[in-house]
Amino acid sequence: MQADVVITNIGQLLTMNKQGPVRGKDMNELETIENAAVAIQERKVAWIGKTAEAPAAEKTIDAGGKLVTPGLVEPHTHLVFGGSREKEMAMKQAGVPYLEILEKGGGILSTVRATKEAQSGELLEKALFHLDRMAMHGITTVEAKSGYGLDKETELKQLNVVKQANESHPLDIVSTFLGAHAIPPEYKDDPEAFLDSMSDLFAEIREKDLARFVDIFTEKGVFTVDQSRRYLQKAKEHGFGVKIHADEIHPLGGTELAVEMGAISGDHLAVASDEGIRQLADSDTIGVILPGTIFYLGKDSYAPACKMMDQRAALAISTDFNPGSSVTENLQLIMSIAALKLKMTPAEIWHAVTVNAAHAIGEGDNAGTIAVGRRADVVIWDAPNYMYIPYHYGVNHANTVIKNGAVLYERQEIR
Ligand code: NIG
Ligand code: FE
Repeated sequence: MQADVVITNIGQLLTMNKQGPVRGKDMNELETIENAAVAIQERKVAWIGKTAEAPAAEKTIDAGGKLVTPGLVEPHTHLVFGGSREKEMAMKQAGVPYLEILEKGGGILSTVRATKEAQSGELLEKALFHLDRMAMHGITTVEAKSGYGLDKETELKQLNVVKQANESHPLDIVSTFLGAHAIPPEYKDDPEAFLDSMSDLFAEIREKDLARFVDIFTEKGVFTVDQSRRYLQKAKEHGFGVKIHADEIHPLGGTELAVEMGAISGDHLAVASDEGIRQLADSDTIGVILPGTIFYLGKDSYAPACKMMDQRAALAISTDFNPGSSVTENLQLIMSIAALKLKMTPAEIWHAVTVNAAHAIGEGDNAGTIAVGRRADVVIWDAPNYMYIPYHYGVNHANTVIKNGAVLYERQEIR
């Protein structure tokens, strides 16, 4: 066999090649291959084995004894938005709660105003910039939500930007419609009517293939469990998979609702009830935990990830990248926060950012693993082993990022 590319001299290879999603204690079982090599042909992984047995190839990449893993999968972002919210930092420091800023017309609603004003081209440029940064940090597949329009026109504008970004950027993007992200001022007294106006878009979004999932922010002062149930039920009738921003700040029972609705994921789950955790662990719904958000909101209500895994839940982790509650594209930083605050082990964390994250966005068959026949999304890390990434925090460890068999990013030396 003559491959297109062969990556040789891999000190430690994580293929993550397991039947996912990986649940509970199994998330702590990680196999590694030492002195490994991976061959790529026609953008796909063609061979995995030991360096000594590697096939010939047109191009050889020497991994220099470093760690190699699948490209990271980022399962929850609010990628497309206008403006930024650095001016709210002082309010946060003064202790004004996140939901109070929203109630005063700031927070999500301030980004909604900026997103309405922005032209599509501007939003696309901004989204591509953030995607570049994600790619530089080792992410090769990403989920992206709308939700900063809260009117028909602007929600569709955001979804169209996601579509254009997917077409023009090498990363693969999975799109989610989050029209039910907040109650816009014009519907303040009639949230039901607002949800009706958003669900009126379902048919068009389906027809134009603008989103695969529908998500809602089930939270005190935003949408109730009953409103969320009715809305998501309609979404399911239109053929969407569903997701919920659940139990982020107040324990309303969003985790239970995610299970009841057969959601592909319940996201946040920071203050999930014991009953919610029990039901989650017994279900096919994946818990997408966002510890960077709890950190960034200055709270200490980290999701009880170990308790969830003890009961056999399948978990993923994510940045929640957005301009308000978690302003980072660096999933590696979130891996460190998961280690330090959720007490997840490095093995659990690697499952949570690869195979399980892929399943949380319906990409279990395409992303999150290195396997023969799969698309070649591979990262070489400036690290000797997988434990090193969560350990050395806050910086970018990506050395070389390969997407669909092509090198997207290589760290440059400046000396
Ligand atoms: O997941 N909680 C709701 N939505 C986002 C935050 C969005 C924003 O503040 O702009 C989240 O935390
Ligand atoms: Fe979010």
